[in-house]
Amino acid sequence: MAYKVAVIVGSIRVDSWNKKLAHALTRLAGDRLECRFVDIATLPLFSEDLEAQMPEPVSRLKRDIEAAQALWFFTPEYNRGLPGVLKNAIDWASRPYGKSSFAGKPAAVAGASIGTIGTAIAQQQLRNVLAYLDVPTLGQPEVFLHVKDDTFNADGDIANARTKQFLQGFADRYVGWLDKLLK
Ligand SMILES: Cc1cc2nc3c(=O)[nH]c(=O)nc-3n(C[C@H](O)[C@H](O)[C@H](O)COP(=O)(O)O)c2cc1C
Repeated sequence: MAYKVAVIVGSIRVDSWNKKLAHALTRLAGDRLECRFVDIATLPLFSEDLEAQMPEPVSRLKRDIEAAQALWFFTPEYNRGLPGVLKNAIDWASRPYGKSSFAGKPAAVAGASIGTIGTAIAQQQLRNVLAYLDVPTLGQPEVFLHVKDDTFNADGDIANARTKQFLQGFADRYVGWLDKLLK
């Protein structure tokens, strides 16, 4: 049976490379995963003042994450760090205190950037946050996709055969890791 995976993309940009990477990778995972993209664009900015009565987009985010057995994060890098929209979503889903939606759910992390370091620093920050939230992360392979104009073909698939093979290996490794943890 396919594992239920919540896919969290740390960019709300319409033509986001990270969204494209997420779609390409979920396709490579095939029917072994049941992937659901969660909406982070409609979340308000986090404030403890709003916690007593969680806004509806927050309740939906928490429900979507809680319904999943595992997580798949895709993050851009902004100014050598984690994008604010992604941190905002993580902060919301971690609340209220003691009722985090994340605890114990295994996660894989990847990122795409037009910059040459391909989100390495943002991903490291993300891994630190997830460790605190009791979310174990798949260590290898690390996926720092340096995007160029021809990285994706017209169908949204990875154009370069070697890059596609590498990403297939990542998807396979993630599913194999979930087999060990969840079966
Ligand atoms: C405010 C801002 C800061 C950025 N800082 C970085 C950075 O530190 N490292 C990097 O590789 N790319 C950086 N970029 C470029 C992003 O990688 C690029 O905009 C990328 O396409 C964003 O991801 P998305 O396509 O999924 O929205 C930055 C872009 C913006 C708008």
